[in-house]
Amino acid sequence: MAYNITVKDMLPSQMPVHIGFIMDGNGRWAKKRGLPRKFGHREGAKTFEKIVDYCKEIGIKYISFYAFSTENWKRPKDEIEAIIDLFRKYIDDVREHIDKDVKVIFLGDKSVFDDVLRKKMLKLEEDSKDFTTMTLLIAVNYGGRDEIIRAVRNVAIQYKNNQLDISSINEDFFGKHLDTSGIPDVDLLIRPSGEMRLSNFLIWQSAYAEFYYTNVLWPDFSPKELDKAILDYSKRGRRFGGV
Ligand code: FPP
Repeated sequence: MAYNITVKDMLPSQMPVHIGFIMDGNGRWAKKRGLPRKFGHREGAKTFEKIVDYCKEIGIKYISFYAFSTENWKRPKDEIEAIIDLFRKYIDDVREHIDKDVKVIFLGDKSVFDDVLRKKMLKLEEDSKDFTTMTLLIAVNYGGRDEIIRAVRNVAIQYKNNQLDISSINEDFFGKHLDTSGIPDVDLLIRPSGEMRLSNFLIWQSAYAEFYYTNVLWPDFSPKELDKAILDYSKRGRRFGGV
């Protein structure tokens, strides 16, 4: 008899602690339907909410989503505006039904956003900072290289002010200067839509991540697809450089 193992049957030790998602394929999803790209992002935002809920249901502790990269500013203005509107709407919705279990952190350089949006992001981070069931990280105006450069600047300032002994710089110290300070590394990195690139997402934190790719476009990504990724992950032999 064949056993149909599901994620809910898995031991906690087989589950990833931190899953990263690159929400790719929204544009193609819209194009296939003859719709403007922004409709793909709107659908993608619905998938984002469904996946957040499902991750909470199955007990994932940390989830990160690549929502807007430092490179995405090259896109048409109306598409950028549509994506930023989705952030605004999401924050307002979350504020109305604040989920007392989910701590929200925005990764990336928020200084480029208008005052109102930036304050909304900071307020949501502040209001949710003591929630412990799950941590949701949303990367906005985020680039892995940009994050590392910002951390280096920060460390250099400490050195210049004689607050730092060079011998204390190690991986642990440096990790504490990244936007993900205190968050464990990514275990499983999921990229839908058939692309097989990291695209500057959590490059430091994904040093030992297991990658999972699927041809499904992000708006069609579902809890069932996530189950497949997690089951696949549970069969990988992670050696972290050992044997
Ligand atoms: C990449 O797909 C997707 C983006 C650049 C935007 C993702 C943003 C959202 C789904 C909104 C998220 C909302 C919240 C509240 C976090 P693409 O447009 O590059 O797809 P393509 O490769 O098919 O063109």
